[in-house]
Amino acid sequence: MNTFTAKTFTIPELTGISKKNIEEHIKLYEGYVKFTNHILVRIDELAKDAEKNAYELGELQRRFGFEWGGMKNHECYFSLLEGGPNELSADSALRAKITEQFGSFDAWFARFKAIALTRGIGWTMLCYDKATDTLENAWVDEQHLGQLANTDQIIALDMWEHAYVGDYWSSGKKQYIEDFFKNINWSVAEKNFTEATK
Ligand SMILES: [Fe+2]
Repeated sequence: MNTFTAKTFTIPELTGISKKNIEEHIKLYEGYVKFTNHILVRIDELAKDAEKNAYELGELQRRFGFEWGGMKNHECYFSLLEGGPNELSADSALRAKITEQFGSFDAWFARFKAIALTRGIGWTMLCYDKATDTLENAWVDEQHLGQLANTDQIIALDMWEHAYVGDYWSSGKKQYIEDFFKNINWSVAEKNFTEATK
């Protein structure tokens, strides 16, 4: 049985998002790793008598997608904040793909930021579907509801309140979105895209 180890992230001082917020947020991420592992261990134990434990197994399996999503989504989010802000280079394959599909980078950017304002807790994502060679924007409720099947995450923007309320209050949601993009290391997104297209 596989279990997972929480990753560590080297995140520099950010615009708008405090060090304290990142520290607390990483603790939440570590909780998702812990409970992903916990579910896997419990499923392994209960599966020894699957018939007797059918109800518990079903409920744990249902929660697995939530914990797994919380682990993977945060890994994408924090990795984008590593290494300091870096522009999306003019000749990058990701920029070319965004422009081809959405008309211009700015057109995509406006659309993505509008999705991030969706009411509720969840994630705004840019994903890549290798089968059709297309980028898709997504809103994911909680950690798992609305994940686009068989796609790779290129950008994951955490829109749970814990990601921004400590620094921005609830009325500062829009500024948090702007600041996330001021802090993003686009070379990480480019790398995600390059790897997804391989
Ligand atoms: Fe989060």
